[in-house]
Amino acid sequence: MGSSTPNIEAAAGALARAIARASGVAVLTGAGVSAESGLCTFRENSVDTMDALWRGFDPMSLATPEAFAQDPERVTRWYDWRRLGCLAAEPNPGHLALAGLEALVVGRGGRFTIATQNVDGLHQRAGSRGVLELHGSILSWRCTRTGRHVTPPPTPFERFPPGSPHHPEGLLRPDVVWFGEMLPELVLVEADEAARACGVFLTIGTSGVVYPAAGLLHSARRCGAVCIEVNPDATPASGSAHVSLRAPSGVVLPELLERTTARLVDA
Ligand code: OAD
Repeated sequence: MGSSTPNIEAAAGALARAIARASGVAVLTGAGVSAESGLCTFRENSVDTMDALWRGFDPMSLATPEAFAQDPERVTRWYDWRRLGCLAAEPNPGHLALAGLEALVVGRGGRFTIATQNVDGLHQRAGSRGVLELHGSILSWRCTRTGRHVTPPPTPFERFPPGSPHHPEGLLRPDVVWFGEMLPELVLVEADEAARACGVFLTIGTSGVVYPAAGLLHSARRCGAVCIEVNPDATPASGSAHVSLRAPSGVVLPELLERTTARLVDA
């Protein structure tokens, strides 16, 4: 993309100023940040792009407590397929650049937080530490009776729905937030606090339509943060961003990190 995106200089300038002042950087990520790792985004997860086994199933109809109650085998087979896909995927240059940005911010005394809607664990595998999982993790499952967590091995479940090791009559379900369920309250409070306190807020690879996650941008903007959107397409959040970088995150984030670092070195 290079100099064809002039907005990147504005974004790097805002980040460098915030980092030099040791003010915080908060980030909201969505499925788009993992697209270049080969994982489907939610709203582009059409039957054409899904594994043949899942053709004809609407992801939105599988990600609900009602779907699990009605057909736990079907729902857990779908989540196990997605879990194995996440484990097989690798962090891409966008994830790695965010880990690099965190090191830069924290190294200068600032606070860095990634609030992610993704359940794939790729930010953590890229080396990010300040990660808040707003929608849980597909790598962790929990007993429907006792609530206790397990991390299943990286192999397919042997039976569906998987039984709980903690309770003879319990089933395991993925530790993700389904439609109609509450987000983990403390995680959301911490994410909102980070958004209100930051100097720069980045919203990356999210369609910005699912609340309360999408509301973090508005919290940050109201509290005076410079808001930057990274997304190849315009979204409902675009009008609230001060700077839009219309490119894939795996391309634009490494360049943003490089330009921000250069400005700090030159200062
Ligand atoms: P979506 O699938 O709604 O949106 C993905 C966004 O990523 C779109 O705006 C794409 O334009 C953008 N995108 C695609 N490729 C990209 C790339 N290479 N770089 C940057 N951006 C790219 O996914 P989310 O916004 O994450 O909730 O969806 C939010 C929530 O809705 C999900 O967490 C899930 C879903 O229903 C629950 O399961 C509760």
